[in-house]
Amino acid sequence: MNFIKIKDKEFKISIPSREIETTVYRIATEINQDYENKQLLFISILNGSFMFTADLLKLITVDCEISFVKVSSYSKLKTTTKVKSLIGLNEDIDGKDVIIIEDIVDTGNTLENIYNTIKIFNPNSIKIASLLLKPDVYKKNVPIDYVGYKIPIDFVVGYGMDYDGKGRNLKDIFTIV
Ligand code: IMP
Repeated sequence: MNFIKIKDKEFKISIPSREIETTVYRIATEINQDYENKQLLFISILNGSFMFTADLLKLITVDCEISFVKVSSYSKLKTTTKVKSLIGLNEDIDGKDVIIIEDIVDTGNTLENIYNTIKIFNPNSIKIASLLLKPDVYKKNVPIDYVGYKIPIDFVVGYGMDYDGKGRNLKDIFTIV
């Protein structure tokens, strides 16, 4: 299945699942080396990172905890200002070594917001693991410490990522044509 159609758009396979497996293994190995004897807390950003998180965590051998959070955005009464908040952040973060797990970093607006929110809870350290990064768009100062693939600005779908709610279940990653 090299081409798929989701709603009005066509997508072509760009990263097959067996390649993703190798990359996730590489990231897990780096994390296992970097976090021996640390108090590691993964914070996975739903919905998009659920598949990456599941595959990554199966390969993590160091002692760790995992928390799943969601970013909500809502408009303040009459203004159009978007206020974002993190839902589901229950774990004690104080003094922990946190790794935020993202599916994809595009502008980095989402990530910067999450990063600043988590920082308030006084973790010992914060690092970011993102399966995909669009470096031509990302201009923020927050470093992305573990990156699976640097990709062009084109829209992608699959392996947890959606187009208008569809395609999250695909095991490969597809790029819009
Ligand atoms: P950012 O705030 O612009 O970095 O966007 C981050 C979020 O937007 C990601 O966590 C995804 O949920 C979504 N996103 C950004 N680019 C894509 C894409 O190419 N495909 C699917 N979702 C995307």
